[in-house]
Amino acid sequence: MRGTIVVTTVAELRDRRGPRDAVGLAPTMGALHEGHLSLIRRSAAENGLTVVSVFVNPTQFNDPFDLALYPRSLERDTELAASAGADLVFAPDMETVYPPGFATGVHVANVTEQWEGESRPGHFDAVATVVSILLNQVRPDRAYFGEKDFQQLAMIRQLHRDLALPGEIVACPTVREPDGLAMSSRNARLTDAERAVAPFLYQALSAMSEAARRGERSSLKLAILGAVIMKRASEVELEYLQIVDPGTLEPLEVAAPGARAIIAATIGGTRLIDNIPLPEIEA
Ligand code: PAJ
Repeated sequence: MRGTIVVTTVAELRDRRGPRDAVGLAPTMGALHEGHLSLIRRSAAENGLTVVSVFVNPTQFNDPFDLALYPRSLERDTELAASAGADLVFAPDMETVYPPGFATGVHVANVTEQWEGESRPGHFDAVATVVSILLNQVRPDRAYFGEKDFQQLAMIRQLHRDLALPGEIVACPTVREPDGLAMSSRNARLTDAERAVAPFLYQALSAMSEAARRGERSSLKLAILGAVIMKRASEVELEYLQIVDPGTLEPLEVAAPGARAIIAATIGGTRLIDNIPLPEIEA
């Protein structure tokens, strides 16, 4: 395990940066799990210096209870980040990210309008703003984001292109529990009964992927197939289940290989999202 150092200011961050190190950044809100650690491991394999930012960005929460309940555990996060190969944990104060008098917001149009954007007003603007700030503060050569938050990733790619932000955006596959449930800090809020049915999201997506592999091209038929699986438990409330273009997130009538199936559902009081790429049709 390397000696991982916690820094809170941009000046400290710059001091620690060797002149020739390629720098990788994994931006997080802490409460690290294997999903986050996969980003950190990939960065450590590809860069001389890996920075993990830990900042619970209050502006991107729609529900104040959700923000209040968000787990905070910097000491444990630092240990986990170190075990995955991080060199620095950047844990800025509120004023370091949002200096007094802060008045700027970033809005990415189109890709943010539907799905998560519809159910979480203002959320993507807040993410686009904080990611812009973090990328400019850390100036990484590569920044690592998870496919778990697929619409967020698509928005960040667009933001990165449009604002000519530094470095390269690297997408990392979704890490799952053995039963297929995508890892998320929100999973800890599920009761045992809710946890038992949470894998339905992945089961629905997998059934759709399998049908697409066998040649089903109708997005509507695939969505119905998935929705039937989601109906199997009364505690599961399906919010959306769609086949979309992976770049624009626009719904597709024809489920071409490479299209993305995206899903959101609420189980009890916990909202879960997941997604899967549609495979090539088997010859
Ligand atoms: P957070 O939810 O902490 O996630 C940090 C990063 O880890 C994101 O890129 C997310 O997609 C990735 N991640 C989460 N669960 C994953 C999983 N099961 N498999 C693979 N990657 C996973 O996303 C955010 O924080 C924030 O919006 C942030 C980008 C840090 C801006 O505040």
